[in-house]
Amino acid sequence: MFKHETIETNSGLLIVLSLVAMGIGGLVEIVPLFHINDTIEKVEGVRPYTPLELRGRDIYQREGCYVCHSQMIRPFRDEALRYGHYSLAAESQYDHPFQWGSKRTGPDLARVGGKYSNEWHVQHLKAPRSVVPESIMPNYPWLLERSLQYADIADRMRALKKVGVPYSLTKEEYDANVEKFGEDVAKDLDINRAEENLLAEAQKENFDGIPGKLTEMDALVAYLQMLGTLVDFNKYDEGYFVEFR
Ligand code: HEC
Repeated sequence: MFKHETIETNSGLLIVLSLVAMGIGGLVEIVPLFHINDTIEKVEGVRPYTPLELRGRDIYQREGCYVCHSQMIRPFRDEALRYGHYSLAAESQYDHPFQWGSKRTGPDLARVGGKYSNEWHVQHLKAPRSVVPESIMPNYPWLLERSLQYADIADRMRALKKVGVPYSLTKEEYDANVEKFGEDVAKDLDINRAEENLLAEAQKENFDGIPGKLTEMDALVAYLQMLGTLVDFNKYDEGYFVEFR
């Protein structure tokens, strides 16, 4: 057996043994990352963002909404009672970067989609205190004034494709998406049609309440309104996805 002194007085041996120890530590940290896809359970309904939602998410990040809002409902009874079913790994699998956040000055937003009308969101973002008098959230009036820039939407989708989000460029990729998500969703994931899809979605829903004008508000509200709406938890009231209610 080595005595500690033998190791500590022999720098060559110390270096070799240190490298071995670091190597083991490194493997323990790195190897699980190669299997990360196997650890995300498959959940029906989760899909990548439409082009308009994606721009909304960009604005959410630009404005630093994540500084005050988390998007991660933890598996505790009080959280589930307040916000709904706890967040699943699959729900943020297409988020780069994820928006779990680390601080809640305002409420968690992981399931805010459908909780309020579009009009409520527009009014609240423009002037939070006009709908929630005690609110300390800042006003974001410029979202209604600035027109939405979307010329680079295809590039943004291409970038996300590089990190594994299944937006499609080729016919094969498109067909694979039809298989995986159904035709309606697959159309929205087609990078070649990104601009027309974005415009069509904004026109159809008119999220900002100003007809004929495409503002940053349109995109942000589109994003907020889809948060947490993809998985139908009523389907999973038995087994793995036990509701806390
Ligand atoms: C300084 C912290 C702060 C920032 C930054 C902030 N919020 Fe808030 N937010 C709050 C607080 C506090 C509330 C609760 C009071 C209220 O409803 O206004 C809230 C409420 C909300 C709600 C309603 C949630 C619910 O379930 O009732 C939404 C939606 C929301 N914020 C969206 C945003 C968006 C989008 C941004 C970025 C553009 C943002 N917030 C930035 C603090 C913040």
